[in-house]
Amino acid sequence: MNYKKLGRTGLQVSTLCLGTMSFGRWIDEKTSNAILQQALEHGINFIDTANFYGKGQDAEQPVGTGECEEILGRALKGRRHDVVLATKVGLAMGYGPNQSGLSRVHIMHQAEESLRRLQTDYIDLYQVHRFDPRTPLEETLRALDDLVRQGKVRYIGCSNFAAWQIAKSYAISETRNLEKFVSVQPQYSLLVRDIEAELLPFCQSENVGVIVYSPMARGMLSGKYKSSDDVPEESRAFHGERNLYKLFTPNNFRLVERLRPVAEESGLTVAQFALAWVLSNPQITSAIVGATKTGHVSSAVEAGQYTFSNELKEKVNQVLHDHTGGKE
Ligand SMILES: NC(=O)c1ccc[n+]([C@@H]2O[C@H](COP(=O)([O-])OP(=O)(O)OC[C@H]3O[C@@H](n4cnc5c(N)ncnc54)[C@H](OP(=O)(O)O)[C@@H]3O)[C@@H](O)[C@H]2O)c1
Repeated sequence: MNYKKLGRTGLQVSTLCLGTMSFGRWIDEKTSNAILQQALEHGINFIDTANFYGKGQDAEQPVGTGECEEILGRALKGRRHDVVLATKVGLAMGYGPNQSGLSRVHIMHQAEESLRRLQTDYIDLYQVHRFDPRTPLEETLRALDDLVRQGKVRYIGCSNFAAWQIAKSYAISETRNLEKFVSVQPQYSLLVRDIEAELLPFCQSENVGVIVYSPMARGMLSGKYKSSDDVPEESRAFHGERNLYKLFTPNNFRLVERLRPVAEESGLTVAQFALAWVLSNPQITSAIVGATKTGHVSSAVEAGQYTFSNELKEKVNQVLHDHTGGKE
């Protein structure tokens, strides 16, 4: 396993991070434990979760119920110190007006709830799940800073922030002497590359860790789907994941078929190729992989060892260029 420093911190994290959004949602506790066990055996020391992850995500009006953190809490008993545990706050944990967002009230309450569910007395990386336009950033940063000072949180990070949002938060942290976000967690894959324009240059300039989610575009880039009418049983499409169906466009299906021979020539599956491409970007600290089978973990570990040559990167650029007809 390869490890990298998380931004400017001294913390070493594996370049593969285990995503747990499926734990307690599409896969049961037994399978979740087997996946976690395998990840640890392969040297993955970085685990990403959220208070929101679990069954509630699929409700008509999604509300988190915390199953995923509870599963992790039970599974990590006795080995908590072997892992870097990242969780998140901000998405709805109830229908009330103060049960979502990044107010001091909600953050303080949910931090305690996450600690209880995770059966730990500290969170290594506490991330805000997305920007909350209703709450002043200073209120959020002060609450997070207090959690660090209380010893309940080691580092703070943000997810789904635009470059201007993290730049604004840096200005507040600097002028008020508050903790700064040490990492960002955006989406990044061969299909979703918008962070290359603004966010990645900001992170490079400020030495911010970049932990990317959905490197296989939620499975769209796994190679298992050829059309939306024919989805394998037990896949996320079979379970009806809304965000995955949004990616089921004729254009994306065509791109996967263009990438398939390039992946195969490289001796990789399409899924491994998509992951190896993300990891080949030197600015990416870690890619969060969403495994739903133990085989997914070993496949990701193999992809993580693949050296993506500059020639291969050029080939991929050519495929993407031909695919869009030269339009960005
Ligand atoms: N911050 C945020 O807003 C946010 C949003 C989304 C995700 N995340 C985090 O990122 C993690 C990963 O996200 P993701 O699950 O969307 O990532 P992903 O890696 O793009 O997609 C994972 C899916 O791809 C398929 N897959 C994985 N490995 C495979 C392999 N070796 N061969 C074939 N198919 C494979 C599986 O689909 P099947 O299950 O269908 O087999 C799996 O569910 C989440 O668990 C969560 O921790 C964060």
